[in-house]
Amino acid sequence: MTCLGVFRPICAIFKTTTASTAWEANPRKVKAVIMGRKTWESIPMNVRPLPQRINIVLTQNSEYDMREGILVAHSLKEAFSRLKKMEIEWGMEKGTPKACLEEVFVIGGGRIFNEAIAHPDCTKLYITEIDGVFNCDTFFPAFSKEDFKEISRSETHTENGISFQFVVYERGALEGGIPPQ
Ligand SMILES: NC(=O)c1ccc[n+]([C@@H]2O[C@H](COP(=O)([O-])OP(=O)(O)OC[C@H]3O[C@@H](n4cnc5c(N)ncnc54)[C@H](OP(=O)(O)O)[C@@H]3O)[C@@H](O)[C@H]2O)c1
Repeated sequence: MTCLGVFRPICAIFKTTTASTAWEANPRKVKAVIMGRKTWESIPMNVRPLPQRINIVLTQNSEYDMREGILVAHSLKEAFSRLKKMEIEWGMEKGTPKACLEEVFVIGGGRIFNEAIAHPDCTKLYITEIDGVFNCDTFFPAFSKEDFKEISRSETHTENGISFQFVVYERGALEGGIPPQ
């Protein structure tokens, strides 16, 4: 299950994974996050838009306010086509070559996870697996371990008595991870 809690290691790995770690060294590489309107509104005002990432918010509301430095799209397809078309100029001097989009993350909530996981371009799942049973109102969809194979698993972290691991699954990856070259 994906974690809905706020634990420091989870926040840290979320940032490391979704923001380009190479961004300061190489501002030509950027990443993007796509999220539902409710997820966007659940992010505290003082930390949104999520820094060093292109933020795209999905809504069906054609009048949704766009003043907060985000891109708004009305479907996942539109979000991808906006990303393809947009000129990425983060941290760049005028006249220098355009940046390249390194990776796109769908960061929830439930409906978008469902849509994204069925999309053939969704190649990796970054999941926090928590040892415990909790009452939740938003869920990550069940997925086939035939389609997505585990390629990495972190050590076990424990915070506030709750243990969890960071697991990466890849579509079509070989069982047992990628063999050494
Ligand atoms: N820890 C985690 O891993 C994690 C990750 C993400 C979210 N969350 C939590 O999950 C909760 C929100 O999740 P949620 O599932 O309730 O809501 P959500 O997916 O964040 O937002 C739902 C809204 O997004 C828009 N939307 C969704 N799919 C769309 C599509 N294909 N095309 C156009 N618009 C679309 C619609 O907005 P309109 O109603 O404006 O049309 C819909 O009502 C929050 O509490 C958040 O904190 C946790």
